[in-house]
Amino acid sequence: MATQTKKSTFSGSVGFILAAAGSAVGVGNIWRFPTLAAKHGGGLFLIVYLILVLTFGFSLLMTDIVIGRKTGKSSLDAFKTINPKWSFLGKLTFAVPSIIITYYVVIGGWILKYMVSSVTEFAATAQSDYFANFITSKIPPVFWMLIFLAITAFIVFCGIEKGIERFSKIIMPALFVLIVGISVFSLTIKSQPDANGEVRTGLQGLWVYIKPDITGLTFKSFMSVLLDAMSQLFFSLSVAMGIMITYGSYVKKDIDLNKSVAQIEIFDTVVAFLAGLMVVPAVYVFMGTEGMKAGPGLIFQSLPQVFNAMGFAGRIIGPAFFLMVAFAALTSSVSIMEAIVGACMETFKVSRKKISVIIAILSAVAAVVVCLGYNVLSFGVTLPTGATEQNLLDVLDYISNSFFMPLISLLTCVVIGWVVKPQWVIDEIEIGGHKFKRKNLYIVMIKYIAPLLMLLLFLQSIGVFRLFGL
Ligand code: PHE
Repeated sequence: MATQTKKSTFSGSVGFILAAAGSAVGVGNIWRFPTLAAKHGGGLFLIVYLILVLTFGFSLLMTDIVIGRKTGKSSLDAFKTINPKWSFLGKLTFAVPSIIITYYVVIGGWILKYMVSSVTEFAATAQSDYFANFITSKIPPVFWMLIFLAITAFIVFCGIEKGIERFSKIIMPALFVLIVGISVFSLTIKSQPDANGEVRTGLQGLWVYIKPDITGLTFKSFMSVLLDAMSQLFFSLSVAMGIMITYGSYVKKDIDLNKSVAQIEIFDTVVAFLAGLMVVPAVYVFMGTEGMKAGPGLIFQSLPQVFNAMGFAGRIIGPAFFLMVAFAALTSSVSIMEAIVGACMETFKVSRKKISVIIAILSAVAAVVVCLGYNVLSFGVTLPTGATEQNLLDVLDYISNSFFMPLISLLTCVVIGWVVKPQWVIDEIEIGGHKFKRKNLYIVMIKYIAPLLMLLLFLQSIGVFRLFGL
């Protein structure tokens, strides 16, 4: 049986940073961040988010990467290596990418479909029932999902340096250029005069986005901004799902983690900010603030209407936008699959090529079931958060992101902060004489603040606050 003798690694810090940023930058940055900013008083949300990135997000990201690099293992075995009593946490962590892959590739398929349709049937994509008709149809979503999954699996199949690193080095700079271009364009647009002769401009939309609006702010509403910013943040940084542990295990010991983690944070946050800069003014100009739907509704319903309203420019901006989103989703889904493949290679001692094919087939079967959740397998269920969901995708999303992720993050903080102690992390960062710059902040975050925040988030997700009418 082919086993690795020497573990593969990223060739250097650039490859690692771009691959990790590729994981972090995903649909969350594009469809969730701008909507949350618009919902929570623009600049107020931006400030809260920024403070959290630099403190809380940084600590969680650093922790995951260090766990990977220090143990040299991916999620399943990393926690076992740290302390055999905690091997259950490895299994929990491994469960997350295994759940996420089944629906992320379905969303990836939708994006590919829109990328093509925005060229071949541009005007049709702006019709209000286009999206619903597409996702509830039986064959097309499966077809596009399989294409997206095949591309993802191919990149993982090719390995760390020749696959993930090589593609990230091409895709991430291209994504950045596209998003900068589209957001600059977004600031220049303006609407036709309405019945009162008023014209809305992109620059007014920019103001809606960045102005800190604190009118009517109460403790309760501030808590809701905080919790939303937090859950967005750790989803966005791809922590608590074994991905950054796995990528961390491919990082060479001479790389300065202070710098790499800072650069990953900056990349992810700048792209999220630019996504808002692109989406908020564009939606504001053509649809007013009501167009700011959350989630898929934003990119698959509001934005195609916005592109249509732009006229000729929309025919270029629309496909460019979907290409950019496809890039973002692809590098994220590659990281999800790598977290599964990397762990299985270690545990079952099988070759990358073999296990990539097996995981791809299993994911395809599960993803077909998720696609069918929109037609033959559709059902209705009320989640502990109070939301009623009708399809498998939203339920799986709840289980992985709202239930497992805060729980895993909380337990990870307990292991690192209290069982092995923060010095375990600090020693790894300071290998080769790199001083850990945010050391004291890290200790306070990992021992006290992050677990507390995660506990709050977890209680909110399982509906405890709602139970007490909070
Ligand atoms: N971090 C990605 C985003 O912001 C999402 C993601 C989720 C990536 C799960 C990998 C795994 O969209």
